[in-house]
Amino acid sequence: MEKEKLKLCHAALYKWYEKEGRGDLPWRHTDDPYEIYLSEIMLQQTQVKTVLERYYFPFLKRFPTLQVLADASLEEVLKIWEGLGYYTRARNLHRCAKESAPLLPTSYEGLLALPGIGPNTASAICAFAYHQPYAVMEANVKRILSRIYAHKTPTDKVLREDAMRLLDRVDPFTYNQAMMDIGSMVCHVKEPVCSVCPFSSICQAHQEEHYDYPIKKSKKVPIKTESWLVRSDGDKIAMRERKSAFLHGLWSFETVQELSEEWVHLGEVSQTYSHFKLRVDIYHDSAQNESSSEMFFNQQQVERLPLSSIDKKVISLLVLNKIF
Ligand code: ADE
Repeated sequence: MEKEKLKLCHAALYKWYEKEGRGDLPWRHTDDPYEIYLSEIMLQQTQVKTVLERYYFPFLKRFPTLQVLADASLEEVLKIWEGLGYYTRARNLHRCAKESAPLLPTSYEGLLALPGIGPNTASAICAFAYHQPYAVMEANVKRILSRIYAHKTPTDKVLREDAMRLLDRVDPFTYNQAMMDIGSMVCHVKEPVCSVCPFSSICQAHQEEHYDYPIKKSKKVPIKTESWLVRSDGDKIAMRERKSAFLHGLWSFETVQELSEEWVHLGEVSQTYSHFKLRVDIYHDSAQNESSSEMFFNQQQVERLPLSSIDKKVISLLVLNKIF
């Protein structure tokens, strides 16, 4: 594409962003690498609204710098992450802080070497905190690129080449923020609003009036079923720390393979994760049977433990059944 055409697109992009973009987002008013890094990690699998309303500010209040985060316990980090899901993100934040406090690296390569920082997050930190010429390529931006170049099944390598070709190297900060907003506010999956899009003059999908780029694979998630046992003793319930990779470090209940007739079935809870759906039958045992890996907690103590969403649903079920 000629340079002049691209310049016109950039000018149209900035004009649109100035008027319609989300320039007021707090992580767009800082060049503190830690604050930008935190926002990028939180936004990886979570909507802006959720991050903004419930997580970003409380996290920064409790852990205002990378050093404070590095000095905190993992349990405390997981507690504040509670409900946000994809807890590996929180564990990696903590590991990164421990590895690099007091300051994050200032190069793309240095950032990429840290746990949980991939090319996209490294590019975002470089562009937003250091104003370096890197192109951010989150899912929405990939859709814009795929439509502009009519890619049906592009690899990340191809998309990165496109992204770097389209990038405005003079102002990578505004360019990337604006691209993300075009992705979420204009270039929708269904019914993109091409009439206001700064790229419509160069977009192949728009010219073809066919928008199915990249081709969406239908995702069928498998269902996993389990049975969990909740033991109670007076006003306390038994919980255990998760030791396997899945939701590691959060607190949960005993998984049982065989059922006893003495247990009462309380109901079912379920949760959808990235690669499967988990359906769990919840049983209650008040017979005070011992289990070596569990500890008994009252309500106040449970409130201090980091719990995943499905475990919180179990707690609600216990409350509903007046067990807890
Ligand atoms: N998603 C990832 N990074 C973002 C940002 N800086 N603004 C809005 N959404 C984002």
